[in-house]
Amino acid sequence: NVLILDFGSQYTQLIARRVRELNIYCEIHPYNKIPNHLENYHAVILSGSPFSVRAENAPHPDLSNIRGKKPMLAVCYGAQYLAHFSGGEVAPSNTREYGRANLSFVKEDDLFNGISKGSQVWMSHSDTIKALPTNGELLASTHDVENAAYKINGEKTYALQFHPEVYHSTDGKQLLENFLVNIAGVKQDWTPQSFVEETVDELKSKLGNDKVVLGLSGGVDSSVAAMLLHKAIGENLYCIFVNNGLLRKNEFTDVLKQYEGMGLNVKGVDASARFLDALEGVSDPEKKRKIIGRVFIEVFDDEAHAIKDVKWLAQGTIYPDVIESVSATGGPSATIKSHHNVGGLPDFMKLKIVEPLKLLFKDEVRRVGASMGMDKNLLGRHPFPGPGLAIRILGDLTREKVRILQEVDAIFINNLKSWELYDQVWQAGAMLLPVNSVGVMGDERTYEKCVALRAVESTDGMTADWVNLPYEFLQKTSNEIINKVKGVNRVVYDISSKPPATIEWE
Ligand code: XMP
Repeated sequence: NVLILDFGSQYTQLIARRVRELNIYCEIHPYNKIPNHLENYHAVILSGSPFSVRAENAPHPDLSNIRGKKPMLAVCYGAQYLAHFSGGEVAPSNTREYGRANLSFVKEDDLFNGISKGSQVWMSHSDTIKALPTNGELLASTHDVENAAYKINGEKTYALQFHPEVYHSTDGKQLLENFLVNIAGVKQDWTPQSFVEETVDELKSKLGNDKVVLGLSGGVDSSVAAMLLHKAIGENLYCIFVNNGLLRKNEFTDVLKQYEGMGLNVKGVDASARFLDALEGVSDPEKKRKIIGRVFIEVFDDEAHAIKDVKWLAQGTIYPDVIESVSATGGPSATIKSHHNVGGLPDFMKLKIVEPLKLLFKDEVRRVGASMGMDKNLLGRHPFPGPGLAIRILGDLTREKVRILQEVDAIFINNLKSWELYDQVWQAGAMLLPVNSVGVMGDERTYEKCVALRAVESTDGMTADWVNLPYEFLQKTSNEIINKVKGVNRVVYDISSKPPATIEWE
């Protein structure tokens, strides 16, 4: 187990993901909440930080229980922190120390095993280390940064001014492996298989004979959570899959069949009419979201009540949702968990919470699903927003518009699949615009709807680029939509990046 102490860097989660890619388990904790049971951790990594170590309000934790006692790798701010407080010197930098650089000097050392002069690294800092701390020994330099890496003689303490966790640091993963495996002796035993075994055992002893209810969405997280729980408690897992009438064409029946095929005890609840009645004529996107959220809670609560003696609510929460973040003021930000907030909640939200995926990053959820034999179609599905097609129909919502958009979306998605483009796209969908335009079909003038197609590349949805789909594909898809979907006479392709645009139009 590896402890990552977070000083508030935007890259802290990346450190954890790189470590996990090495099949090593790690946890992120805020610098001012160092865990009590340090014996559980075999190595410590200090993250970067937006602060300058010289600032009074900067994170200045007491590391006396760690330093010299455990193998420690200090990254960026961490490296400066060590230098500043242990006999070295940190000062504002007068050269540019941001972006790519190449190592111009590398000392032969276990840390740099297999990494040679010229290796590209990623710098992102404004202070610089002018003098190494006491007993410091220089390990690497770049053209602009002399003290790019050092170690403390007599300790397993290492420090890097650059960021090994960022992909632009070409040998960053090798460097982390050198530190964790060769220097610290950490075992590489965090695999999807070991996670499944341990989690199923834990769930068995935690849940015993209790009944658990879980809402399935058709997405990867809730599906993988269901598989794990099913392995642990079988028929005592009650899954509920709600059709809100805003899913893709045939999605409800197709996905329900898949869930049944996986052996899950799942109840499909078709509440389309309830949702669509409540949404009829509503145009404001935030109102749409609120209505959908409220109706979902009502429907789910009714269904949960129908299960006798249910004790637990399972959720597909993943690690990024539970990591406590370090706020800009230096203190840890408050995390309010919904189950601490009981008054006035629907009954199912008063159940005890079980979150089998809360240690995993998104890519690990997929790997765990794959290791349990989950269907490729289910694992590789594009993200789909909870409010579904409601936020892809701009303006007021009617049943007829939902039907039109389902047809358009189905043609687009099926074509992406048949052209083998689906897996190259992170998310795709169609928007129905509140615009009619003039067209001509045969000898007739038409005045019909316009749809926009959107396909983006992304890693987490925070930023996104539009995908350069082949013209031939767009041409064929546009023709097919206009010929087959009554009420649509114009198709456009969205070529906006996020930011400044968003992925969804509402
Ligand atoms: P935006 O439009 O903010 O979308 O660029 C980023 C990602 O979030 C999804 N999204 C939502 N998901 N409820 C959801 O569950 C919502 O209200 C919602 N709005 C956007 C969107 O599909 C994309 O993946």
